[in-house]
Amino acid sequence: MLMTVQDFETTARTRLDPVYADFIAGGAGDEITVRANEEAFRRLRLLPRVLRGNAERALDITVLGSRARTPILLSPTAFHKLLVEEGELATARAAAAAGTIMIVSMASTVAVEDIAEATRGAGEGGDPAPLWFQLYLQPDLEFTRSLVRRATDAGCTALVVTVDSPVRGAHERDLRNGFLDLPDGLRCEHMVDPCEGGRVRPIAMSPEISWTHIDWLRGITSLPILLKGAVHPEDARLAVRHGVDGLLLSNHGGRQLDTVPATIELLPEIHAAVAGRIPIVLDGGVRRGTDVVKALALGASAVGIGRPVMWALAEGGEKGVRRLLELLREELDQALALCGASGVQGLTPDLVRAPAWPPA
Ligand code: FNR
Repeated sequence: MLMTVQDFETTARTRLDPVYADFIAGGAGDEITVRANEEAFRRLRLLPRVLRGNAERALDITVLGSRARTPILLSPTAFHKLLVEEGELATARAAAAAGTIMIVSMASTVAVEDIAEATRGAGEGGDPAPLWFQLYLQPDLEFTRSLVRRATDAGCTALVVTVDSPVRGAHERDLRNGFLDLPDGLRCEHMVDPCEGGRVRPIAMSPEISWTHIDWLRGITSLPILLKGAVHPEDARLAVRHGVDGLLLSNHGGRQLDTVPATIELLPEIHAAVAGRIPIVLDGGVRRGTDVVKALALGASAVGIGRPVMWALAEGGEKGVRRLLELLREELDQALALCGASGVQGLTPDLVRAPAWPPA
């Protein structure tokens, strides 16, 4: 029976080509950060309040103008057609049914226009389901501009700029498996360049990208911009100074620089650095409702999940992802009830205890 995220992982692994299972689960180098993300959540403890009389919990949030019925968003992940024929359409329909935000990867195998079309009117009260678009800034700025225009015209309500990838992380599992490219018939739809006769460009990871490019992007779009992958408090402060609207605090699920700390461990410092000026969404290792409570209590406005969505998609397509999102919502609601909380707003850091507490 599929009762937990772990169940989805176990079942997906029995169904998936082992090469794809490795692609999803794996990370960079020794995968120290991959493990750290989950372990750090497990190390933290929750200290509940009692007798608070909260008969119901409000789980809905608004981040940067986008409303969601749960604070559990879908982080951007590539190549969903590797797992099911419908690819990102299945994921997007499930996210829309759950009333949550899907962050469409620039490396998706379905185009953002088609994803938007498939979920039109599926949001709250028949509104469009909320979609955000993830971008790797390309050194060819005109091409980047055309992607921003496509995402905007498709109705995306925020841009998530991934900045932790000046070069590609070393995914040793993929290298050993010889998984270096998409199989024939699949392609990154956003990289098809109409100006070059439909040629498919490779996604450039560009070490020359700098804050100047963020300033440029700020100047060409009025959509909210979130930076994904800034983990140093000084960079969080710089992000605010450069007019960035939000952070997606992420170490790319341990797939870029190995040995970066767990995101939940970084959260208090990043929260202090931005001092409430911009919202923080956190991803990396979120597997339980209690993990969501910990992240929100320590200052996140929402969380993102990456691998669990891929496992659920592999396990059961759209239905699988729907079930996954339902079960996480149920776990979150139960954890909030047991913490005596009235909902996802107003959670405070005193709910969370590290094992050695108070510090000596
Ligand atoms: C990712 N991630 C990612 N991030 C991004 O900015 N663009 C992308 O295209 C992808 N693609 C991608 C593929 C796969 C298979 C995985 C597992 C991850 C990173 C993703 O957005 C997120 O940061 C992590 O997955 C979060 O950690 P968890 O939930 O997987 O532990």
